[in-house]
Amino acid sequence: MTDTIRKTFAALYGRAPEVVAYAPGRIEFIGNHTDYNGGPVLGAAINRGTWVALARREDGQRQLASDWQAGSARFEIFPGLLERQGGRSAWTNYPMGVIKVLPSFGFCIPDGFDFLAISNLPSGAGLSSSAALELASASAFLAVNVQQCPLDVLAMIGRKAENDYVGVPCGILDQGVSAFGQADHLVYIDCRKMNFSSVRLPSEASFWVFNTNTKHALVDGLYAERHRECMQAATEIGVGLLADATVAQLATAIGRMPAPTMKRARHVLEEIARVEEVVALLAAGRIDQVGRLLTASHRSSQYLFENSTRELDLLVDNLVEVPGVYGARLTGGGFGGAVLALTGPSFGEREAVAVAKCCARHCGGEPDIMHLHTGTGARVI
Ligand code: GLA
Repeated sequence: MTDTIRKTFAALYGRAPEVVAYAPGRIEFIGNHTDYNGGPVLGAAINRGTWVALARREDGQRQLASDWQAGSARFEIFPGLLERQGGRSAWTNYPMGVIKVLPSFGFCIPDGFDFLAISNLPSGAGLSSSAALELASASAFLAVNVQQCPLDVLAMIGRKAENDYVGVPCGILDQGVSAFGQADHLVYIDCRKMNFSSVRLPSEASFWVFNTNTKHALVDGLYAERHRECMQAATEIGVGLLADATVAQLATAIGRMPAPTMKRARHVLEEIARVEEVVALLAAGRIDQVGRLLTASHRSSQYLFENSTRELDLLVDNLVEVPGVYGARLTGGGFGGAVLALTGPSFGEREAVAVAKCCARHCGGEPDIMHLHTGTGARVI
């Protein structure tokens, strides 16, 4: 891909890029909607991501191009405008959001530039194609002016671009994992302290992702609604963030908050406990028990947080019946997107296709299957 982006950049802009940077997508392993509640989360950077090539311009003009419209071989150059874009140029919000927030972290930005992004991540599959674009963009904008930036700050730049400019009140999971990813490891984030560490994955663990290609039309609005409900629950309990509440405190709040808000809070508190249990089980080599908790996380999304869909539930129901599957759950924000299955070596292409075909009979469309491997985090190439 590095060669491809250099060649495409030269064909589009008539010169070589000054820098090329890369950032991976991620799998949310466990810790659903725990991040913005100050809880812990575990994710894995994958071996697919986004590359950004950049060169400064003397005339102050800003030009951006990408292969964001999947399947289109034509690259369209958009002017870099500092207002939020919709439609075909909506992807420019991610690099332009980064440009907008970099000065607030003390970094300078190039006045004019030619920018190209290419990706091998499907968008809308719950694999954080947006965080990968934010981090690859930030790394390139920093490198072109020879500025050093610690990885935690890089992650915070991406998150701030998404919160303030794109308008999604996300936590640090996607950007933190994309920044700190390591092959054969999960990234553990203490989202309250903003501490990032890595947890080794057992060698027999394999990731299969089933992308339903369905997405709730109001997905951003529903994410923001869940965020609001969690903040409301924390206020009712009398804590700053839900991660500071105990199960006993939550029990005393029954009756003071609407039933759905209570369910959201219960999901978050129990999910936080599951993440910590998974860390201990990984250390003890109990991958079968880890899988059980992944499936429990999905059931909690299904019944308490209510961010699952019929297609995601059906995939999980089918997957957990297959020998070699330790557990399965929706990965990412939910309301559509993808299911992650944690499997052992006896689960392969044949089993994955059988599950996909079985689900297609009930859902209309066959999910895309991806056998994903862990990969390294954001870097300049
Ligand atoms: C999306 C957000 C993350 C996180 C997950 C749900 O991926 O970007 O910050 O909240 O949803 O866990």
